[in-house]
Amino acid sequence: MANRTISQSHNRSISHEQRTQMTPTNSPILELRNVTTLFPTRRGAVRAVDAANLALYPGQILGLVGESGCGKSTVLLSILGLIARPGRIDSGEILFAGRDLSKLPDSELRKIRGKEIAMVFQDPQSTLNPVFPVGEQIRESLRLHNMIGGGRSWPFDRARTTQERKRVLEVMAEVGIPAPEARYRAYPHQFSGGMQQRALIAIGLACNPKVLLADEPTTALDVTIQAQIVALMRRINREHGTAIILVTHDLGLAAEFCDHIAVMYAGRIVEIGRTDDVIERPQHPYTTGLLRCIPDIGVRRPIEPITGNVPDLAELPAGCAFAPRCPVARPVCSQGFFRLLPVSGEQADAAAQRSGEVHMARCLRLTGYRLPASEAPTNGAAP
Ligand SMILES: Nc1ncnc2c1ncn2[C@@H]1O[C@H](COP(=O)(O)OP(=O)(O)O)[C@@H](O)[C@H]1O
Ligand code: SF4
Ligand SMILES: [Mg+2]
Repeated sequence: MANRTISQSHNRSISHEQRTQMTPTNSPILELRNVTTLFPTRRGAVRAVDAANLALYPGQILGLVGESGCGKSTVLLSILGLIARPGRIDSGEILFAGRDLSKLPDSELRKIRGKEIAMVFQDPQSTLNPVFPVGEQIRESLRLHNMIGGGRSWPFDRARTTQERKRVLEVMAEVGIPAPEARYRAYPHQFSGGMQQRALIAIGLACNPKVLLADEPTTALDVTIQAQIVALMRRINREHGTAIILVTHDLGLAAEFCDHIAVMYAGRIVEIGRTDDVIERPQHPYTTGLLRCIPDIGVRRPIEPITGNVPDLAELPAGCAFAPRCPVARPVCSQGFFRLLPVSGEQADAAAQRSGEVHMARCLRLTGYRLPASEAPTNGAAP
């Protein structure tokens, strides 16, 4: 985004009041319960996603934020059953419309992928097929899911082909591809990066999915084009009620766009909550660190990068995985396992916790642990 100052919630999909009214009556459209995804490696199994709990309600936009290597894409690929073997979903449930996607055979998943749950990837250049016209690639999505229907099989049913073409032009116009008629037959290389990303979104939207999974959809684009793509996704969310999970390493972007934010670190969700809570009252030092990395136009302050790197998931440090980088770590942080706990300390039902309605974090400072006097913090970072 051009101006990186984090704004209030005016840009997000629905207001907190609307959300509060929606949550008790509606069921989540997509729910992850204790999902763990493993990749076997020579050095042992890597838990790219470790016991993740998330719930997405109709019309909600959830941001999944963290540095590269934290497991964000693996969450999305797990939802769609696209984990490359020998990787696997080891445990947990992924509930969509009453069915556990993690237990469905691929033949059933194929009917859901692209039709009910669509995914937009980071790099349109490697996702679009260079040898097919863009319009045909959008039409392929319709045809695959038999969205238009018809008698004779494709490509001999001319009435069906005409209707599919009509829908493609409609969706191309909707995502802001100018002169869709003329561009239907254009190849991906004839599109700019922003237009290619619009084409990918058009493929995603062709079947009116209920859920859009967007994996770093603006990372490869210029800031002005990023802003256009974000505005486009927001319009889609408002006009069609499409629920969106936005994966991004950019907490500023998530703050602008999302109703709720889940912060991931080393395969685990370390903080989740309503966007305003997470941005204005971050509870996990990693979230605070990410916030300090956001340039703020108009306020002259140095960017403070988080020191060190995301750990190798095959060799996670004991205890809190963030401890080696955490500026307020205590010796005890490397010993215990810290659960995701409500920040307020109050009990909350599981669905509210998974959806981010309850502000939760995973840190020693929320456990009520009393530090020995010798370890008492002097910098105000009391547990
Ligand atoms: N195909 C794979 N084989 C082995 N390990 C993988 C594979 N995909 C992901 N991983 C592991 O999972 C971690 C998280 O990956 P990913 O979900 O792509 O992170 P992110 O999207 O947050 O950058 C990687 O750092 C790597 O350790
Ligand atoms: S548990 Fe300890 S090391 Fe981990 S984030 Fe909290 S204070 Fe830092
Ligand atoms: Mg990724």
